[in-house]
Amino acid sequence: MSFNQYKDKIEEGDTVILFLGVDDTLTIRIKHGKTHQTRYGAVRHADLIGKQYGSRITCIGGKGWLHVLHPTPELWTITLPHRTQIIYSIDISMITLQLDLKPGSIVCESGTGSGSLSHAIIRSIAPTGHLYTYDYHQQRCDKAREEFTDHGIGDLVTVSCRDVCKDGFDVEHIADAVFLDLPVPWDAIKSAKQAFKLQGGKICSFSPCIEQVQRSCDQLRESGFVEVTTVECIARPYDVKTICLPPYNMGYIEGSTESSDDAPTDTKPKSSLKGFTAKCGILPKETAGHTGFLTFASLYTE
Ligand SMILES: C[S@@+](CC[C@H](N)C(=O)[O-])C[C@H]1O[C@@H](n2cnc3c(N)ncnc32)[C@H](O)[C@@H]1O
Repeated sequence: MSFNQYKDKIEEGDTVILFLGVDDTLTIRIKHGKTHQTRYGAVRHADLIGKQYGSRITCIGGKGWLHVLHPTPELWTITLPHRTQIIYSIDISMITLQLDLKPGSIVCESGTGSGSLSHAIIRSIAPTGHLYTYDYHQQRCDKAREEFTDHGIGDLVTVSCRDVCKDGFDVEHIADAVFLDLPVPWDAIKSAKQAFKLQGGKICSFSPCIEQVQRSCDQLRESGFVEVTTVECIARPYDVKTICLPPYNMGYIEGSTESSDDAPTDTKPKSSLKGFTAKCGILPKETAGHTGFLTFASLYTE
């Protein structure tokens, strides 16, 4: 199976997303003989083999049903096993756009972490691009490599165990884009510059704190990057509700030419106008907040 190529039917070894509802999804790897327990009952892997992706499956025990979905980078991001903090799809979409990722792009990334962003990058640059991803944590590198292979995208990515702040990236003049998700990104910026193609490219650094952003911006400018811009992506989901609005009182008493403002309150006649109902988009009182700042910059060397 491949995250990058859709197929119709579930096979042994596939990574399948079990969709039990919004905010209730999980990933399983299909292995004949295994059974998975969900809150709606059990699912036998053998029963899924040969089923169409997208099918509705009734769980054993009859407590409910779920859908079996083909994996995508977005679904992987919300179900993957967290080994680190990860980048989520709202930030990923901005990164993909601003770094101008497309089929054939060569990208350097550090750190690899849990591979959330890596999966999305690989989908954007396939089938002819390549991702070089670096992390100084050996187990995270091994696990990410294993997942990329299991997900059929292993040939599009090279995972290296390396401290990019101390030892730099081990590639020169090949990258169209560089992405940094590091605690001290400014220490990796000079060597990131070496990774870019001779004509330059785009860099992005993700940092949760504004102090990190300030140091990165200074280092980017010092290193010759231009168009340094920082953005923060915050989703504002609106609740759609039916509301009833009272009639607007224009200040007139029906059947009279006098203004109601002059009459004592208790003698004011009630308006016979009815309120009206309407569908409205209402902002939630609290918006799920800050993930981090995305600092983008460009390098033009020729
Ligand atoms: C927040 S995680 C990256 C998460 C990743 N962007 C994702 O979406 O899954 C940061 C990673 O950077 C790695 N790291 C920190 N400093 C590093 C360095 N100097 N060189 C290489 N990797 C580093 C950590 O081991 C960690 O796995």
